[in-house]
Amino acid sequence: MSIAITTHALLFPIPMQGPVNCMLKLAELLCLSGISVTVLNTEFIQRNLLRHTNVLSRFSRYPNFRFQTISDGLPDDHPRSTERFVEVFEGMKNVTEPSFREMMVSGCFCSNSECPVTVIIPDGSFSFALDVAQEINVPLIYFETVSPCALWTYLCLPKLIEDGEVPFNSNDLDVSIKSVPATETFLRRRDLPGFCRGDNITSHLTEIILNEARCVPRAHGVIINTFEVLDASILVHLRNVCPNIYCIGPLHNLFKSCLAMEPELVTQTVGSNSLWEENRTCLSWLDKQPAKSVIYVSIGSLAIMTKDQFFEIWHGLVNSGKHFLMVKRPGSVIGEYDDSQVAKILVDETKKRGFFAEWVPQEEVLAHSAIGGFLTHSGWNSTMESIVEGVPMICWPLNVDQQVNSRFVSEVWKIGIDIKDTCDRVVIEKAINDVIDLKRNEFIKSANALANSAAQGVAQDGSSFKDLNRLIKDIKSI
Ligand code: UDX
Repeated sequence: MSIAITTHALLFPIPMQGPVNCMLKLAELLCLSGISVTVLNTEFIQRNLLRHTNVLSRFSRYPNFRFQTISDGLPDDHPRSTERFVEVFEGMKNVTEPSFREMMVSGCFCSNSECPVTVIIPDGSFSFALDVAQEINVPLIYFETVSPCALWTYLCLPKLIEDGEVPFNSNDLDVSIKSVPATETFLRRRDLPGFCRGDNITSHLTEIILNEARCVPRAHGVIINTFEVLDASILVHLRNVCPNIYCIGPLHNLFKSCLAMEPELVTQTVGSNSLWEENRTCLSWLDKQPAKSVIYVSIGSLAIMTKDQFFEIWHGLVNSGKHFLMVKRPGSVIGEYDDSQVAKILVDETKKRGFFAEWVPQEEVLAHSAIGGFLTHSGWNSTMESIVEGVPMICWPLNVDQQVNSRFVSEVWKIGIDIKDTCDRVVIEKAINDVIDLKRNEFIKSANALANSAAQGVAQDGSSFKDLNRLIKDIKSI
């Protein structure tokens, strides 16, 4: 006799690689626990997922799972990159928000399902979803795919503005910040989210963050991709504002740990959720490199750099004398250049000890024994993936939460170097040598300790494992 599924979660990620990846992992975990799940992706995201992954066949093992799509209001050929993300927000506001409301009010997600949506799990930045949830009387649990330290600065933003600490004049970025409890001894203006810089803070992004700060505490709960040991000092404060927090990170690791506990799934591969085609030949190249010798470079799925910054990084890599694997995502370097502008030393040295790829299987790369360090934009997923593998970081943050993440990497967790606001070949060369050689022992000691805590958190009866089970129990009892 089949048992009717009476719980139906609707997961709605913000259309970005890192958050989509997280939501899909959470979706699988919920499916495994017998909850019916719909993942609502923008058409653009869904198209790229289908083009570059096996998500459809992978998820076909869950009869209680389905994808649905929604428009982001932009033409197919729009790049949806950082420099034009304002247009993405506008498209979401003008088209996605009203469509979402209409879909929820009309009950369209229950047409194929055994029961209507019983809980909505949207990205933490989707404040409009809370109004809709209240209108149709369905509980909502936010999934904050940014770090707890970034979320904490978002929640403190009204106070930062009230106290006159934000906005600030960008001439002196080293002034200390006092209105973010738990960070008073190390947070500076330059470590606050990028949108706080500049004389006025009337940007679209600031409006989204202020709405987020207003809505997140009113939700039924908040899911965060972290583990207790990593963010204890911040979680104390967050829980005063949002009492019901589920820390289920590192999610990609918890996911692997849970799959390994399922007898019929233990032999299955984890599978990719990449929006670009992965170049897997980098793994065989890594196989040929000495242990802990390679610096891996990636600025994630949205960030962009100028041509000059790209060449500074490339020179820094070459001058360091170390091996390197660099991701150069299509469209991530702005400004044209041709091969004649590339210095001969870069070409020659890259042939000997470098590898360029447009997109790589990052979790596998970071887990490879040849990787000795990670030059990263400090996106939260990249940071968690590096922490899990005990890989020290060189942080070159570019946007939003990345500025605060990188400060925590260097000052709180002491697992890397923060070079924010500089992109200079000499600084990069020195940072690479410090991370791979000179200060390696000091970074590795803290990185290994955190990697061990992360592993304990996702093991059976670890804090993240328990929080996932509490989340599942709560969703089922809603
Ligand atoms: C965005 C924001 O930029 C970031 O600040 C925020 O924390 C989350 O949303 P994104 O640029 O996607 O993040 O960076 P990140 O969160 O680090 O996620 C990137 C994901 O892409 C990671 O899961 C990483 O494994 C994956 N990736 C990256 C690949 O699979 N291959 C690559 O070549 C590069």
